[in-house]
Amino acid sequence: MEPKEKLIRERHSVRSYLDKEIEQVKINELNKLISSINEQENLNIQLILNDGEAFDKFILHYGRLKNCKNYIALIGKKDSSLDEKVGYNGEKIVLKAQELGLNTCWVAGTYKKALVKADINKDEKLVCVIAIGYGETNGVIRKSKTIDEVTDSNNYPEWYRRGIEFALLAPTALNEQKFKFEYIDDENVKVVPGRGAMTKIDLGIVKYHFELGANKKINWQ
Ligand SMILES: Cc1cc2nc3c(=O)[nH]c(=O)nc-3n(C[C@H](O)[C@H](O)[C@H](O)COP(=O)(O)O)c2cc1C
Repeated sequence: MEPKEKLIRERHSVRSYLDKEIEQVKINELNKLISSINEQENLNIQLILNDGEAFDKFILHYGRLKNCKNYIALIGKKDSSLDEKVGYNGEKIVLKAQELGLNTCWVAGTYKKALVKADINKDEKLVCVIAIGYGETNGVIRKSKTIDEVTDSNNYPEWYRRGIEFALLAPTALNEQKFKFEYIDDENVKVVPGRGAMTKIDLGIVKYHFELGANKKINWQ
């Protein structure tokens, strides 16, 4: 199996963390990637270390993050394309964390936004966060839709099938996998997000996974 497929298959959401700090070399690697994304995409993503208040003060039990002390705050200029952009680029950081032996969980709901310790400018929005650290476990394989449930296309090339295979391994809010793909031609693929508040973030994540599986940049329609 290629290294990127292994990373994608081994990544699962992890919600309980150990009291183990992230080593400085790994912090540096993450910050290097974050800086290059911020520069290229005009985002203001920040890695926040040793502060778990935003998770600890969230009182509901469901989806609660346990003992998580680090997170990545996904921030950018308020704009209709921000959620998708954050999804696409945030997932690059998630897979980098996986490569570094760290665990993660996208968190858009089960945290206290007001307790996030990031610097957010007036014209910016905090879209969501990604919990990061050493997990108690590496998480578990969850249920997934099948390829036929997310595309009605019939005659398609192998790269399209691989794209969908990787897209189905992508994290989505509540594991809803609401997207639908359509094969157009050798460069163009259509993808339609489902309805719902977080489907634009999901869309960015899923497009990134698809391109890794297809092994090429897609003209998204
Ligand atoms: C945009 C987004 C928001 C999410 N928000 C939360 C959340 O608030 N709380 C939580 O526990 N998990 C959250 N998740 C994690 C999903 O529940 C998880 O990715 C999904 O169940 C699939 O499991 P997997 O990541 O192990 O593949 C979120 C995931 C995404 C992509």
